Amino acid sequence: MSSIQKINKLKNLKFKRKLVCLTAYSKPISRILDKFCDIILVGDSVATAFYGMKDTRSITLETMINHGESVKKSTKKSILVFDMPINTYRNLKEAKKNIQKVFKKVKCDAVKIESNGKNFTIVKELVKYGMPVMGHIGYTPQIKKKFKPQGLKKIETAKLIYEAKQIEKAGAFSIVLECIAEKAAKEITNSVKIPTIGIGSSYYCDGQILVTDDLLGLSGFYPKFVKKYLDLNKILNKTFKKFSYDVRNKKFPKKINSY
Ligand code: KIV
Repeated sequence: MSSIQKINKLKNLKFKRKLVCLTAYSKPISRILDKFCDIILVGDSVATAFYGMKDTRSITLETMINHGESVKKSTKKSILVFDMPINTYRNLKEAKKNIQKVFKKVKCDAVKIESNGKNFTIVKELVKYGMPVMGHIGYTPQIKKKFKPQGLKKIETAKLIYEAKQIEKAGAFSIVLECIAEKAAKEITNSVKIPTIGIGSSYYCDGQILVTDDLLGLSGFYPKFVKKYLDLNKILNKTFKKFSYDVRNKKFPKKINSY
């Protein structure tokens, strides 16, 4: 199926069932996610979750492209979205040049760009140019330095609805809603025809995304919107302890492991 066919199918699902989205930074993870996800996002959260950086602002386009190429190797059926890092889409010329490079190298289906409340024309031009775009509103970590849930006040909700409508009008195929209050998320979702994908934005979004490392219990980052489905940290500790015991006590390697 082509990118456009996958994207059109996703848009139609808004009114039929909830959409499943997760992040991936490598081939072994996307190989599994591809069976269960509508969208796989190569998120700039790789900065914090994988590289241990203090926020998402230090990751470079080149590093993200390396992860994108790895993820692409086993993403077949899901829509592969590449998260454009900070300072790669400040104006149309810069956005076009960098996104062209991303499409050429990663061969993803779409890119995600955070909304600064003004960059709708960039979205419009990119879409016109044949580059599918996913929007991102609410708490936008590249732009808002301090974490704060969004849409708790009426005036904030009105602004978010305006942003969502502008992003839809510009031609984006879906929008991530990050840490937006329940009532506001519901209103935004009902205001647009494209699917909204929530993270910390309640049940009312059309789909849900989490950072995979958080869901696996690997990142140590557990705000209330994260559900830890597995304590991988605990499992890995037990596993490495066993390996260490085996090596020190000459239980591994055995004859069967030797040539
Ligand atoms: O980078 C990321 O993982 C994201 C999600 C939180 C939506 O942008």
